[in-house]
Amino acid sequence: MTLNSNKDFKKGYEVRKAKNIRLLEKLRNDIYNEIKENFKIKEKNSNVGLNNFHKYVKNLSNKELNAKRKLLINNVTKKINFGEIIFNSFEKLLTDNLGPDMIVQKNCNIVIQMPGDPNPSEIHRDAPLNSAYEIVAWIPLVDCYKSKAMYILNYNSTKKALNFLKKNSKDWKKFEEYALKFSSNPTVKFGQGLFFSSCLMHGSNINTEKETRISLNIRFKSLFSPAGKKNQLQYFKLLKQGNLTKIGVDFESGNLF
Ligand SMILES: [Fe+2]
Repeated sequence: MTLNSNKDFKKGYEVRKAKNIRLLEKLRNDIYNEIKENFKIKEKNSNVGLNNFHKYVKNLSNKELNAKRKLLINNVTKKINFGEIIFNSFEKLLTDNLGPDMIVQKNCNIVIQMPGDPNPSEIHRDAPLNSAYEIVAWIPLVDCYKSKAMYILNYNSTKKALNFLKKNSKDWKKFEEYALKFSSNPTVKFGQGLFFSSCLMHGSNINTEKETRISLNIRFKSLFSPAGKKNQLQYFKLLKQGNLTKIGVDFESGNLF
């Protein structure tokens, strides 16, 4: 997937530590302040508050919880430039794999997975609906391990699983059982990110740990790579342009005539 000697990404994913954890700490505090306000939580420490989120919201109905969750996402996406902060925290990995001309998803998803939540994310891959040339950045705001983490199949295991699915296309349950045998739940601590190709199979199990998982996910891709089936202009915005592209764009727009 990469032209660089980025050994780990050959398997299609990598857990990487942020260059500067302070950026992610500020991001986590900003999100937690919004959560505190929305859900009327008194706990001051963001790590404690986020891990124990399920305790503060246990009296809310699913409908109330969902409404508040939507409001939270609306509020934070207006205030926080997620794409830039996550790019600045993991610039080397993203530039090594995607090059100097990059676009980023406009909206960042915030996923809350409370202990015992019966609706984890079923096994899937983001491509071909999303471009096959995207990197998904999965950034947990709390330490994630075992069932609190997401699971992923590396490139070879994804291939094996898809071959199995081709031969057993009518039996999804069997496919799921087969694929999960090859999955791993990489531990991703706060301050790290899991980066993976949109072609890899992934999902999450029921969180059987005693803490809530709150994580962000956002996608990055090269400006010049093929789009997926979604309208790229609707979902992505320009993040950075290399010098060569700046000159080319100048030329194309008639400024170098
Ligand atoms: Fe996904």
